[in-house]
Amino acid sequence: MSKNAETLAALIRDRAGAEPPKLGLILGSGLGHLADAVEGVAIDYADLPGFPHAGVSGHNPKLVIGTLEGQRVAVFGGRAHYYEKGDASVMRLPLEVLKALGAESLILTNAAGSLRPDIPPGNLMMLNDHINFSGSNPLFGEPTDARFVPLSEAHDAAIRAGLAKAAGAEGVELAEGVYCWFSGPSFETPAEIRMAQRWGADAVGMSTVPEVILARFLGLRVAAVSVITNMGAGLSTEAISHEHTKAMAPLGAAKLEKVLRRYLRDLV
Ligand code: HPA
Repeated sequence: MSKNAETLAALIRDRAGAEPPKLGLILGSGLGHLADAVEGVAIDYADLPGFPHAGVSGHNPKLVIGTLEGQRVAVFGGRAHYYEKGDASVMRLPLEVLKALGAESLILTNAAGSLRPDIPPGNLMMLNDHINFSGSNPLFGEPTDARFVPLSEAHDAAIRAGLAKAAGAEGVELAEGVYCWFSGPSFETPAEIRMAQRWGADAVGMSTVPEVILARFLGLRVAAVSVITNMGAGLSTEAISHEHTKAMAPLGAAKLEKVLRRYLRDLV
């Protein structure tokens, strides 16, 4: 744990209280408004030295520590991406801070393109595994042997079971599948999408995987859910754009919010 993370955790405790959050939540494109539903203390990333700028439109770059559905949570209203500066470790400090605050687990959300006609836009897909196609890794440069993180069970079975149960209870369909991380920021070509399909991917996106790796490195239990905003390139006649992602995200986000709220309510 870096000294900076300990310093920031102390600063956050001073402002938001010392009770450790049970769970961290990172909100993806178009999903940031859930941060505003937390009753607690909001701190702009800009007031947390070393935190990323998280400058992608559709994000809500603040950390909110407080209560959601009766649970103490730390909600990150936005993330920085590898494609912004070519740094896959850009979310390392926020996750170190989460760990230093005493959280044990983390749920990641993102917007993604579907590779499966049976998971159309507006639906949710929980990740049961991932493919790192970026060629990068957030642990490049980490000098300790802790960098050799096993990822054979990276996506936590207990959190996934809890999310599946919450979705069932809410009557929300929650597909499961493999997410393939492309670096972005350009979208994929149809040939890349066909390749990812043949490799066994079910969705593609530009985030989340480095955070899963960092979470496991830090000993946080982690799971992730994608909001499907479009079909992958070449799989539909609809044009793919960031505007479209932001416009479509609220459809799935409403479902995701139901699932997350239920998950928290039922968490013991
Ligand atoms: N590809 C990559 N990232 C995305 C997509 C996509 O089709 N949709 C939303 N995020």
